[in-house]
Amino acid sequence: MKEVTTKDGSTTFYNDEYSETYHSVTGAVEEAFRKFAEPALEAVKNKNEVRILDVCFGLGYNSAAAIDEILKQNISCNIEIIGLEKDKKILEQIKNVEPAIISYPVIKEMVEQNYKYERNGIIIELIIGDALKTIKKIKGKFDIIFLDPFSPKKNPELWTESFFKELRKHIKEDGILTTYSCAGNVRRNLKAAGFEIKDGPCVGRRSPSTIATIAPVV
Ligand SMILES: C[S@@+](CC[C@H](N)C(=O)[O-])C[C@H]1O[C@@H](n2cnc3c(N)ncnc32)[C@H](O)[C@@H]1O
Repeated sequence: MKEVTTKDGSTTFYNDEYSETYHSVTGAVEEAFRKFAEPALEAVKNKNEVRILDVCFGLGYNSAAAIDEILKQNISCNIEIIGLEKDKKILEQIKNVEPAIISYPVIKEMVEQNYKYERNGIIIELIIGDALKTIKKIKGKFDIIFLDPFSPKKNPELWTESFFKELRKHIKEDGILTTYSCAGNVRRNLKAAGFEIKDGPCVGRRSPSTIATIAPVV
């Protein structure tokens, strides 16, 4: 797997099958904090228990960034993360990267312990397999959902209305889904699945990311 240094100095990789990098080349760690973790923080304000569903776990930067940000707000918050990932090859690279994320050692330990981690109020479990199938095994609802597949053109099965309906079943009433894409088709499918959307921050490009919440019933 070819290593790529992004503009903030953090490492990502190039995936030959999808012909894409795992993160924005403008900054992999920047993307994790600014497009995924920070816009989702509103969903966990004043909470002592937080559940995160990380769809397309990859190197785990989004989850690690979220742990940093949540603990910054509330050092005693209990955090449970379920990650969905189909490719063990990218998980094997976790031991080789050193992103500037304080909580990343937890991600490394989780991989060493056969994709499970539980200590000091943090629980992480990865479910390996195609997210289209593994989403059906997930129980309960989440405060935060990270949606981070490859681009809608290359990885279309995870940007459909029917997959978003599965995610909709697993988000809490005040939950927040964040994703980097602002593609018209992605936003239409999110709305059709029962989400309300707004622009997330513009990071490394002119277009915004997307923040989705449950649409009110009218
Ligand atoms: C853009 S990368 C995600 C980067 C990751 N969030 C991170 O912080 O490093 C997309 C990931 O989605 C995974 N993926 C693609 N299709 C999938 C599927 N159908 N089920 C589960 N994982 C999938 C790929 O293996 C890849 O790791």
